[in-house]
Parts: sequence; C-alpha cells; structure tokens
Amino acid sequence: MTQQQTWSQRFESALHPIIANFNASINFDIELIEYDLTGSVAHAKMLAKCDIIPAEEAEKLVAGLEQIREEYRQGKFQPGIESEDVHFAVEHRLVEIIGDVGKKLHTARSRNDQVGTDTRLYLREQIQQIRQKLRFFQCVLLDIAEKNVETIIPGYTHLQRAQPVSLAHHLLAYFEMSQRDWERLGDVYRRVNISPLGCGALAGTTFPIDRHYTAQLLHFDAVYANSLDGVSDRDFAIEFLSAASIIMVHLSRFSEEIILWASEEFGFVSLLDSCATGSSIMPQKKNPDVPELIRGKTGRVFGNLQALLVVMKGLPLAYNKDLQEDKESIFDSVNTVKACLDAITILLREGLEFRSHRLAEAVTQDFSNATDVADYLAARGVPFREAYNLVGKVVKTSLAAGKLLKDLTLEEWQQLHPKFEADIYEAIAPRQVVAARNSYGGTGFARIKESLEFARKQLSE
Ligand code: ARG
Repeated sequence: MTQQQTWSQRFESALHPIIANFNASINFDIELIEYDLTGSVAHAKMLAKCDIIPAEEAEKLVAGLEQIREEYRQGKFQPGIESEDVHFAVEHRLVEIIGDVGKKLHTARSRNDQVGTDTRLYLREQIQQIRQKLRFFQCVLLDIAEKNVETIIPGYTHLQRAQPVSLAHHLLAYFEMSQRDWERLGDVYRRVNISPLGCGALAGTTFPIDRHYTAQLLHFDAVYANSLDGVSDRDFAIEFLSAASIIMVHLSRFSEEIILWASEEFGFVSLLDSCATGSSIMPQKKNPDVPELIRGKTGRVFGNLQALLVVMKGLPLAYNKDLQEDKESIFDSVNTVKACLDAITILLREGLEFRSHRLAEAVTQDFSNATDVADYLAARGVPFREAYNLVGKVVKTSLAAGKLLKDLTLEEWQQLHPKFEADIYEAIAPRQVVAARNSYGGTGFARIKESLEFARKQLSE
C-alpha cells in the first residue's frame, strides 16, 4: 500500500492488505474510466456555472481530467489496487497533475451518485452497440430469407414433423424475436438514461448545484426525483440483464436448431470450415462449436440476472457496498451478448449452407401433408372432425403398407370419400401445402413476401 486511502485521516491504522484487496473494485471498474471522466467533466463545469468554484479552477479540472483520458488511452495510466476504485484513482491522479485544485472536484458529490452516473453512461453506450449488432444479425437473417422464400423445410411441433414451411418463414420468426429484443433494449434505455448525479451520498447536498445542467451536458433525458432512490436504484441494470437474457434465449434456441440441422440425422445444413472445428481423436468430425458455445454462454447471462436480483432483494436504503457487485454481472452480460451476436451473425453469413436437396427430399417423405387432406375435404363440406378421423385411418393403413399419401391412386382416394378428385395430388404437394397457408402470419408465399417487405422497412427506419 504505497498510497494512503482517501479516507485514512479518520482511521488509526492502515487497511489489512488482504482486506484492501477484497474491498477494491479497480480491477474491474476501470472499465468505467471514460464514463467517470465524462461525468466528472460535467460536474466540474456545473460547479463553476453555479459559482461554487471559480471558472478558472473548473477549467483546470477539465484539462486535468482530459489529460487523464489521454494517458489512459495511451496505456500510461494504469492504477493499481492502492486506488481502491476507479473514482479514487482518477481523483488521485488529478491532484498529481493539477495540484490542490484537484481536491475541489468532489465538492457536492459522492462516489454513490458518481458510480450510478458512470454505470448509466456505460450501459447507455453498450445498449446502442448491442442494438446495432442486433440490426446486423437481422440483416443477415433477412438476406437469407429473401433468397429462400420457396425453399421448403419440415416444420415441427414436439420435434415431430408437423407441416412443411418456407425456410424464409422459419428465419423470419427469428427476425421477429430480434425485433422485439431491439425494441426491448430501446425501452430499457429510457430508464437507464436518467441522471442520479447530484443525489450526493444519499440526501442531496448543501451546495446550490444544478442537476438539470449536468443532466443536459451528459445527454440524460431526466434526473432522479428522489436522492435516496437515485443512489440506490439498480432497476435499470436488472432490466438490462433481463433484456440480455431474453436475447440469449433467442440465440440459444436458434443455436440448438442449427446444431440439430447440422447433424447427420437432419442433414439440413452443412457447416463451412470457417466456423466449424475438428476433434482431437475422431478424424471425421466437424463440430458446431459456435452454436454450442452460444447455447452454453446463455447460462452465465441468466446467472448474472439472478445474481443482481439476489444482491438487491435485501438492501435497505440507500447505498450499500453490496452494490459494487453489480458491475461484473453487467460487464459480463454486455460482453457475452456482444460476442454471441457477432458469432451468430458470422456463422449465418458465411459459416453454413442450407442443403436444398436434403430439404426438398425431407418434405416429400413424410405425412406432414395430412392436415391438407383433411382441409381438402372440410373445404368441400365434410365436417373437419370427420375428415380428420378419416385421414387418421388413411395414415395408419398407408404406414402399414409402406406408402405415403401421394402414392394412393385416385380410385383409392375415391373409395375413402367420393369428394376426392384428381386435384388432391396437387393439393398435397409440399409446395402447394406451403403456398396455400395464406392466413395472416402464415407461411404462404404471398404472406412471406409481405413480411419480407415489412421487415426491410423496419431495418431502414
Ligand atoms: N466502488 C464503489 C461501487 O462500485 C463506489 C461507491 C463507493 N461508495 C461508498 N460509499 N463506499 O459501488
């Protein structure tokens, strides 16, 4: 411990080194340094504007803070454990650079409102970056969907073949999910973008500060109305971690599908070399590590949400040191979501290929057109339940005979029900089965084309 703790005057002896280490957050909250500097610059300007310090002193503070920013960017400022946290680290360095004037920076401020400000500035920027990455992901989904309106793949319920769908429809489902993710982050942003600066330690300050001025300088939309709430609220972080978790739910489900599709059993996609890995022992292997890692990393993002919820649940007002524990969860979820979005976007864009032959083959070899036979009769006046029961029997006898519905002769169809005519073959061909589902939101080609256009419009907004 080379440097004295800022608060050491009130104490008889120094902090135990292991406790100093335990107490410190500098190893991780250094991530906030640029936001801390930005927040402090605004605070210094406000102090001068409100005549709390002379304008020349504020200029010195701002110049010193900007010098620290330069030093940090050039790798010349690397504070260690003796600084406890990023806020003290900056203040110490400021006093080293500009002398005693630096000691005025913390007038009318506490680390409690300071750290809340930093975290919000950080998260604000990260949210915008994540939203941008969601947009890239959506663009790639849309590019592939546009090329595959008429590529037909089996659709599943219970992971059993159900009804065929357009590949574009399947991909657009993920587009919709990520659209909600994008919007959800926009909602979170509104509650992140509120300034706690000036709430002080918990009760406000005796100085005639102008909180709206700092909020304006820092582009916050509003200020916290209650100082106790302002310094101890982490709802905005919980909301972010929740939105991050939902993004990961979506990426993980998609990853699971890609893993299944890449298996020998499905064979719907092949993994290209740029995004697949081999085995150390089985020479034939090509593994889907990218989607597996995304699926796996989902766990820690859920964990971060859970961790912060539990940190918060028993806290009395106002600030408690427990709140220092919010940061690693936030940083980890930010970094993980960004990395996963990058990876899945690259995987989709250049790491896998849909095997159209396999897909075309798959949809002609099952009974996923059975509903269409029932619909055929129902459209011709047969009550749906009656038609459904009849087709159930046909499926049973066809399975026993090793036949598919398309293999039945017209005579056989007509023996089953006089309403069957030669157009039954057309009605149950996979392409027609998909094309005919033109209800709003359905997989019919006409609907998909509308959805694609709408999606393009959303992206260009
Ligand atoms: N490092 C602290 C944190 O991250 C900063 C605020 C400390 N405040 C205090 N009263 N000890 O929460």
